[in-house]
Amino acid sequence: MRLVARPSGPIRSPDMGRVRPPGDKSISHRALLFGALADGVTTIDGLLESEDVLCTAAAMRAFGAGVTRSASGRWTVVGRGAAGFAEPAGPIDFGNSGTGVRLTMGAAAAFPIKVTYTGDASLSGRPMGRILDPLALMGARWSARDKGLLPATVHGGALRAIAYESPHASAQIKSAILLAGLGADGQTSVTEPRASRDHTERMLRAFGAEVRESTGADGRHTATVKGGARLRGQPIAVPADPSSAAFLAAAALIVPGSEVILDDVCLNPLRTGFFDTIADMGGGAETIDVRDAGGEPVGTLRVRAPQRLRGAAPPEARAASMIDEYPILSALAAFADGETTLSGAAELRVKESDRIALMVEGLHACGVDADERPDGLVIHGRGPGGVPGGATVRTHGDHRIAMSFLILGLGAQAPVVVEDAEMIATSFPGFADLMRSLGADISEA
Ligand code: S3P
Repeated sequence: MRLVARPSGPIRSPDMGRVRPPGDKSISHRALLFGALADGVTTIDGLLESEDVLCTAAAMRAFGAGVTRSASGRWTVVGRGAAGFAEPAGPIDFGNSGTGVRLTMGAAAAFPIKVTYTGDASLSGRPMGRILDPLALMGARWSARDKGLLPATVHGGALRAIAYESPHASAQIKSAILLAGLGADGQTSVTEPRASRDHTERMLRAFGAEVRESTGADGRHTATVKGGARLRGQPIAVPADPSSAAFLAAAALIVPGSEVILDDVCLNPLRTGFFDTIADMGGGAETIDVRDAGGEPVGTLRVRAPQRLRGAAPPEARAASMIDEYPILSALAAFADGETTLSGAAELRVKESDRIALMVEGLHACGVDADERPDGLVIHGRGPGGVPGGATVRTHGDHRIAMSFLILGLGAQAPVVVEDAEMIATSFPGFADLMRSLGADISEA
């Protein structure tokens, strides 16, 4: 399916009411997974019912957990607890979801079962050795296509604890190893070059596990779990996803006269680099309130279109806290005065697509100068009203690339068409409808 975004009038919450972006994807996967591992019942409110998360729900059923939906966003998981994961009858298909497959590989490796994992074309091109190699150090056995691509089969059980030095600031790697460590003998630790999102650590504590964390003077971060912990089912309220909120905020920053109020957004400091960067650009969000909800800071944000945005060069240390927001920041930077340099994010090459290459290609197609760098890109902003648009953009089926160029199209001089727009449902079901309700002119091309 192709969608077209046309130059639009102001983006506004209806009657200046509040808009709730969809539930957080990272927390939704974890709620299902931890619920399946735990003793007893986990109730989840506000689960993101996106295709990625539904793959994880199906996977947990395949391991023998009771996973049911009683109303929109309201799910119940009856965990396996002491019985452990059962061996699935067949391969588990994780579709497009890197988080789902990687975290599940780690969790399931703690049990004496054989599991085969598959995924779509994008997921089948993404590196799994970064999970499989440390699991092998813990004693799991695996085989995979081309030594590290899906389909992959893992035989788990009888794991030993390790102290793992991760080459990447990656919550997927960290979480997979910590979850495997829950079933290992002794203390398992993961040290990463910078702290990545810590939803796993927060939620493990809420479920009753012991997790320690420390940060060195050089910014290196270590998280440690003790093996043998028994998790207890919990009620979980999933906050709105700051990565999805970023698209709504960017639309409001790009289209003159806009204002949106975003409710219930997860404001975990390891997720809010986008909001720090828009503040650097002169378009900061106003935080209306912040509260604690189930171990995560959650709040309401107001975003208004500024007169002008300026280019920025966010520090590399911020990269992990906005890793999924580079595409939308790149689109936003096209409307700023001057250059924006986005760096420190070589990981973008192995996301759902090579996001650096695709953003540069799409910006060029839309008449915006951008230079590709190994670990990021430089966008030469064209100022308010200065983005030509008028192009069809290739997305390689990447949901965040598709949404980024639709938002760009709202503020461009001529419509922008994106391909493979159905993939938006992997993280933001109802994106086009919600944008239309705020005044965006987005329709099927
Ligand atoms: C995620 C971690 C991030 C992010 C992904 C979700 C998670 O990946 O890109 O969308 O839920 O743990 P890495 O931490 O591997 O970079």
